[in-house]
Amino acid sequence: MTTLTESNTSAQNSLSDERVLVMDFGSQYAQLIARRVREQQVYCEIVRHDLSAERIRSHSPRGLILSGGPSSVYADDAPRCDPELFQMGIPVLGICYGMQLACDALGGNVKSTPSREYGRARCHFSVDADLFGGMPTETDVWMSHGDQVSSTSEEFISLAATDTCPVAAVRHRDLPVYGLQFHPEVTHTQFGTQVLKNFLMSICGCRGTWKLGDFARATIVQIREVVGQRRVICGLSGGVDSSVTAALLYQAIGSQLSCILVDNGLLRKDEEKSVIAEFSKHFKTDLHVVSAEQKFLETLAGITEPQEKRRRIGHAFIECFKQQAEQIEDADFLAQGTLYPDVIESGASEDGPAATIKLHHNVGGLPEELGFELIEPLRDLFKDEVRRLGLELGLPDELVWRHPFPGPGLAVRCLGEISKDRLETLREADAIVIEEIKAAGLYRETAQAFAVLLPVQSVGVMGDARTYDSAVVVRCVNTDDFMTADWSRLPEQVLAQISTRIINEVKGINRVCYDISSKPPATIEWE
Ligand code: XMP
Repeated sequence: MTTLTESNTSAQNSLSDERVLVMDFGSQYAQLIARRVREQQVYCEIVRHDLSAERIRSHSPRGLILSGGPSSVYADDAPRCDPELFQMGIPVLGICYGMQLACDALGGNVKSTPSREYGRARCHFSVDADLFGGMPTETDVWMSHGDQVSSTSEEFISLAATDTCPVAAVRHRDLPVYGLQFHPEVTHTQFGTQVLKNFLMSICGCRGTWKLGDFARATIVQIREVVGQRRVICGLSGGVDSSVTAALLYQAIGSQLSCILVDNGLLRKDEEKSVIAEFSKHFKTDLHVVSAEQKFLETLAGITEPQEKRRRIGHAFIECFKQQAEQIEDADFLAQGTLYPDVIESGASEDGPAATIKLHHNVGGLPEELGFELIEPLRDLFKDEVRRLGLELGLPDELVWRHPFPGPGLAVRCLGEISKDRLETLREADAIVIEEIKAAGLYRETAQAFAVLLPVQSVGVMGDARTYDSAVVVRCVNTDDFMTADWSRLPEQVLAQISTRIINEVKGINRVCYDISSKPPATIEWE
């Protein structure tokens, strides 16, 4: 029997006749490139750098983009691609390392100078290059490289230069092979989107036919085919991923969907109530609410180590699901809101790059242990696409734009030992942070905001009395992709209001700090 994942692929083959592959050479920006391509309504996937030319051909791509990467083309262990891919007639765009590789592979007599360049640079473009059509001949670009191409042979034509980089872009004389030393995918590169658009539309001949609405319709048909008359269970957390997964399934199979909400005592303030209210507004199918606060508190008692907290929470989830699933007849499928970055980071895609970053599992190992077939209808989408899909499926703005909330919930924001009282303190402080950010009209502008309770007490004075109470940290970040993030420059008066309210209204807190760390090197969550 086909699984949804397999049939998703066939759905996309028909949907995405315009497909572009990003070959990943270890770049921190590979996912960003893929997103930028999809923003042009061209379906794009990230694949391993060493995929054979034959395998590449089987994807029928309109174009290939070779990502940047940390290596030097001259190193013995430098990642390489199948040299035949340059001869397939498919347009190739090499970015940074990808450009050096392309030049090197095509005998371009590329010299490399070890002149590190990082940051903004003024770049002059050749006027008649199709890659730079519709843009000024001089703009700012973003550089981030060790090596650079310093001269090319007869094979290549230089198309751009900066003061320190004489060959900032190239085109092969005979083959449709292009290279950029700068990064068009980062927002600091002015007209970077235009460069990618020129490559996709003018050079690869794409028209931009990838539409989320088509994706939703095809996925709904596939879900119906795969599920037949059986039932699907879907865990709801109140987050956007599980809500959109449920909405897609509901449109496909209606009341054959059963949702499960585990109240683990680690949810945000009023979360359970709001999930139930939203659910009954949008879905006319059964919702099983499992009251499991006691179970989670018991399993977490005395545990301070973050990974151990996550492990125990994962196990407790499995037990709750097991118990509920037994009560739901014909429940053969489990739906999960796995996103494309999870698939890529976990190395779970057949032709995708090897795992580099640990996967965040909501309910790790669950389907296999329970004997479910897995349905992951969002596994080809990025977070912003999931949000747009949610809106197309009729979910309300408030739900679609909710800040993400981690599977292990407040447990990873309640540092040190977890107790009902400490969770309650954190929940109240967290609610104030969100209320004030919303009141200041900053909720949509910020990507994630929350409170963290520290296992630290400090001395204070309230009224005339000395206090020795806990400290709360406010964390608020701006990010599109949650893989990198910057701390939000919240206005002083918003910070002041948050601090005053938390200290006045939340018993046991006498100090509020603001986290000014970016990711990397810090992560968004504290544990
Ligand atoms: P970090 O802390 O790694 O978080 O910078 C990046 C994003 O992922 C969320 N996050 C999780 N989500 N299960 C989840 O479902 C997890 O275990 C988990 N850990 C972090 C985090 O809230 C942020 O949005």
